[in-house]
This record gives sequence, C-alpha cells and structure tokens, in this order.
Amino acid sequence: RKNGLQVAIDGPASAGKSTVAKLVAKQFNYVYCDTGAMYRAITLKALQAGVSLDNVDEISKIVKSSKITFAPSNDGQRVFIDGDEITQEIRQEDVTNSVSAVAAIADVRKELSDQQKQIALNGGIVMDGRDIGSTVLPDAEVKIFLVASVEERAQRRYKENIQKGINTPLDELQLEIEARDYKDSHRKISPLTKAKDAIEIDTTSLSIEEVVSEIAKVVKNKLN
Ligand code: CDP
Ligand code: CDP
Repeated sequence: RKNGLQVAIDGPASAGKSTVAKLVAKQFNYVYCDTGAMYRAITLKALQAGVSLDNVDEISKIVKSSKITFAPSNDGQRVFIDGDEITQEIRQEDVTNSVSAVAAIADVRKELSDQQKQIALNGGIVMDGRDIGSTVLPDAEVKIFLVASVEERAQRRYKENIQKGINTPLDELQLEIEARDYKDSHRKISPLTKAKDAIEIDTTSLSIEEVVSEIAKVVKNKLN
C-alpha cells in the first residue's frame, strides 16, 4: 500500500488498545484511528437529541447524516461531529454505558465500517476497535488481539478515573466492563472476536512499553 501497512488492534474494553496503538503509530509515523470514538460520537449525538436507544430508525438517520472527523493532537486525536469538538464528551459515563446498544445496529456498523475502510485504504495506519482484523480490514498485514484479566482491566480504568477526579467503585467498573464485553461479543453483526490470523497478546502483567515493543517487532518483521 502507498503509505505503509495496515495494523489492526482489537480486544475487549480497557485491554490497552488505544494507549499502545497511539505509541505504535508514533513509532512508525503512521496515522492512528480510534474506531470506538466513531461509535461513541454517534451515541453522544443520539443521547443529546433525546433519541431512545431502541429507536433504530432514528439512530440510522443520525449515522447517515453526521460527519465525524479527526484531527491529530499531542496525546492522540481530537474528535469532531459536524464540526463540533466532542473529544471529552464522548468519554462520559452515559456514553460508555449506551455505546454497545448503538454499535449493535446494522446501519450504524455498515456506515462506520465503510468510512473506516476508506480511512485505511492506503495503509500507514494503526486502527483499533473490536472488529478491525475480523471485518473492517480482513487483509491487514498485522492483526493484534489484546487481552487482559477483567480484574486488571477494571484496575486500569479505576486508575484512569482517579486521575480525572472520578471515583467510581472498582466492583462497579468491573461489572460495567463485563456487561459491555458481553454485549460486544454477542451481537449479531461483527461481534468482538479474535481474527483467525491475529496474534494474541495477554497484557495482564505487561507494561505499556513491553506491549508496544512486541507489536513493533511484528510490524518490523512484516516490513522486511
Ligand atoms: O472504552 P473502550 O476504549 O474500551 O472502548 P472504545 O474502543 O471506545 O469502544 C466503545 C464501544 O464502541 C465498544 O464497547 C463497542 O460497543 C463499540 N465498538 C465497536 O462496536 N466496534 C469497533 N470497531 C469499535 C468500538
Ligand atoms: O483502548 P482500551 O479501552 O483497550 O484501553 P485504554 O483506553 O488504552 O486504557 C488502558 C489503560 O491501561 C490506560 O490507562 C493505560 O495506561 C493502562 N495500561 C495499558 O494500556 N497497557 C498496559 N500494559 C498496562 C496499563
């Protein structure tokens, strides 16, 4: 591909996908694309419009009429919908707890995965999500599936929250993560799953640097 490889990174919530994907992209001078942010953007817009999450027709209209764009920033990427910045808003708890329902809607998946294919067309990209290696970029040269124990993932989210001044109890976070993983793994269309040719990395007891260097090794191998 013109700009380099396609690197797909999938896995359950808080496995470290976006953290390591950003660092891998930086190392190879590739573009980073957070596909979860796109599902979150549509969810935020639906919530703000007061649309009920089971109103499939209305949410389908929203996804077809909205323009999601990204701009690079120091710590990853800024996210916009119809020109308005929503980088912070899409991380709100109400969005997190509603996004899996929106992401299960056929029109939403079709529209967003078409956009993702387009973004990745020329390669030189690290894309993270749930179905990138399995569905969005089935021919990606590098496919990584990141996992970690649910206890460790809840801990990670807990620490992240504390830094933001949010103090949700650990057991509540663990239940939230389990519920979201369940919904993401059991939906009909392109559920969270490890692609047959993906390399699985268990990050439970690995540092961010260790995960990045393992992925970088795979990328370098493919480049040679
Ligand atoms: O919170 P976390 O960073 O783990 O999640 P995210 O990557 O921001 O994704 C939020 C939600 O979007 C997921 O729980 C899925 O429901 C959905 N999603 C998806 O269905 N397919 C993708 N490729 C990416 C995200
Ligand atoms: O994108 P995803 O939901 O998979 O995870 P994330 O948003 O990157 O969050 C993972 C959190 O765990 C971040 O706070 C990281 O600093 C931390 N972490 C990690 O990503 N990887 C490790 N090996 C250890 C910790």
